[in-house]
Amino acid sequence: MKHKSLLLTLLVLFPAFLFAGEGMWIPMLLQYNEKEMQEMGMKITADDIYSINHSSLKDAIVLFGGGCTGEIVSDYGLLLTNHHCGYDYIQKHSSVEHDYLTQGFWAMNRGEELPCPGLSVIFLREMRDVTEQVLKGVDIDMPEDDRQALVDKNMKSIIASVEKETKYKVSIKPYFLGNEYYLLLNEVYTDVRLVGCPPSNIGKFGGDTDNWVWPRHTGDFSVFRVYADKDGHPAAYSKDNVPYKPAKHLDISLKGAEEGDFAFVFGYPARTNEYLPAVAVDQEANVIDPIMVDLRGKVLDIYNKYQEQDPKVRIQYASKHASIGNGWKKWMGVTEGINHFHGVQKKHDYENRFHEWVMASRSRYMYANLLRNFKNNYKELEPYELAYTYMAEAGMRIELVNFAGRFARLSEVTKDTPQDDIDRMVNQLKGTSETFFKDYYEPIDREVAAMLLKEYLKAQPADFRPAFLNDIKNVDEYVDKLFAKSMFTDEAKVNALLDNFKVKDAKKLANDPALKVYQSLIGFYRDEVYDHISSITKDNDRLRRIYMKGQMEMEPEKRFSPDANFTLRVTYGKVEGFKPKDGMKYKHFTTLEGIMQKENPDIYDYVVEPRLKELYNKKDYGRYADKDGTMHVAFTASVHTTGGNSGSPILNAEGQLLGLNFDRCWEGTMSDLIYDPDICRNISVDIRYVLFIIDKFAGAGHLIDEMTIVE
Ligand code: ARG
Ligand code: ASP
Repeated sequence: MKHKSLLLTLLVLFPAFLFAGEGMWIPMLLQYNEKEMQEMGMKITADDIYSINHSSLKDAIVLFGGGCTGEIVSDYGLLLTNHHCGYDYIQKHSSVEHDYLTQGFWAMNRGEELPCPGLSVIFLREMRDVTEQVLKGVDIDMPEDDRQALVDKNMKSIIASVEKETKYKVSIKPYFLGNEYYLLLNEVYTDVRLVGCPPSNIGKFGGDTDNWVWPRHTGDFSVFRVYADKDGHPAAYSKDNVPYKPAKHLDISLKGAEEGDFAFVFGYPARTNEYLPAVAVDQEANVIDPIMVDLRGKVLDIYNKYQEQDPKVRIQYASKHASIGNGWKKWMGVTEGINHFHGVQKKHDYENRFHEWVMASRSRYMYANLLRNFKNNYKELEPYELAYTYMAEAGMRIELVNFAGRFARLSEVTKDTPQDDIDRMVNQLKGTSETFFKDYYEPIDREVAAMLLKEYLKAQPADFRPAFLNDIKNVDEYVDKLFAKSMFTDEAKVNALLDNFKVKDAKKLANDPALKVYQSLIGFYRDEVYDHISSITKDNDRLRRIYMKGQMEMEPEKRFSPDANFTLRVTYGKVEGFKPKDGMKYKHFTTLEGIMQKENPDIYDYVVEPRLKELYNKKDYGRYADKDGTMHVAFTASVHTTGGNSGSPILNAEGQLLGLNFDRCWEGTMSDLIYDPDICRNISVDIRYVLFIIDKFAGAGHLIDEMTIVE
């Protein structure tokens, strides 16, 4: 009760306070949030977090591998990210003999660190507001194509002129759906090596069963190191490269956090859509997501069955399983959350308010038809979105078809194609093929194919689906024939063809039944679907941009935060638990006790390492124990995060590392569309558990010695 009245007072005094927790803020504009952050407990300044005049926390943050965040924790380029972010690289170094996924891996000296071709990290060096220059000459009544052409031209010339004065990579990104533009100066390092990772039953403890779920006990971390040339500049992998020395590395706190403590996350959120109209949210949560959930659930059932039978298949399908399963569970949460929270209705209410505001003044004429246009557009879009969903989730999910599709270009070469081009394609395909067959198990794919094709036929009308589907009389017989006749199930045949490729083989490829299925899917999409989706989406983007502008005009005193767009952001809130349902309260942290409670030697996701049990039994936690004497494993906070924030540091009031963000609670995954501070929680692994595993479990204390630990 007391809590509530306090909140009400605050709401009157500072209208924005209620939303603390919501918002992904632009680091260079953080001075506008500084006061609120400090009132919530922050002891440092906005300038300590982002500055271009002196070193700041931003110098320790990277975009990791194009999809996650990482942070530098030593003067020797040592980097922390999640286990699931390093997963592909750990898997690539793994085999049945050297199963680093299962056993973990620790380089005991720098010579043992493993190069990871294809992996890069990106540092943001500077950002600049270039809105005015980008929008120069643009006015609101301009036809969309003219507007885009002008914006593109302006951006090109800004980039060209900045490129002359800098060694960094220059790009410009739209914010607030194209109402503002910022220029980013980035530096890309490509020699990044694997230093260590815990075994999967620590790094992925709870597996897909616990994914998106609280209480959580996953030691979701892995360790890499960034290398540079001897001058500290980016360089391709070389034995002569040296550990990268950052302008700043993060200090690590061993103090942990109390409920209510201020905390912030600094990283690379990928995509949010907080300003969508109600119709769009409704379509996503109640039409598209449920279909994807259903199809993926059925695929996963088949994977599970085979993975449980054979350890080799388990490794082969581990990464595929994780990536399909991740969206599957998340979208379940989005639908539940939106409906439970009456999200669509709340959006409608807001839109009614917007409509009234528009009607109150003639000067707001440009906003008058927005909501009606949205409604028409999303209705028109729906069948095409469904067609796309089935193509992607049912058609292309058949591995054989997907793989065959990689040969589409080679199947089109003629005697006029330059030999160089052919050689390049053939070489690339050799790599593709090796990777594919390493992790391919045909019985799974056959069963998946039969299941998906049946679903596809059931759901999509005969007059609006790829032609090959209409030729199928009996799905099982069709699948048997497809797999028997296609060469793409047979590694030896594929290799023989690639080793000795002649132009006349193109025809053979083109006639392969799996490649024909691929062509039929793509052809249908290209001829019947793509143009509609892209023209409606283009119009929606325009409407969304104008709607965004209108919302900002309607509430001039509100601080708006731009949707995530894979650029560096600061988000903040408090360490706290939540009430997922009536009568339930989740605590904000978990401990090693919980791992022992979940232990089940018969369930893969809940096997506990004997060595971990030994440390637990001896309570040998060293300086990593909480002051309550237990080993804290994970904690939740009301900090707004999304995909891409994985691996991001969660920091305390002093800007010291408390943990690594790795997930959200599924009850609040709707936070990509609507943020509700009552139920949206991010989940982080406690940095003390990370250090405990590195030090006590793995005996890699030499890595701890590199770090700056604050006791
Ligand atoms: N749900 C988290 C995210 O979206 C973690 C995914 C990896 N973990 C897993 N068990 N699949 O990326
Ligand atoms: N697990 C996500 C990631 O990998 C984070 C999230 O969606 O909360 O980025």
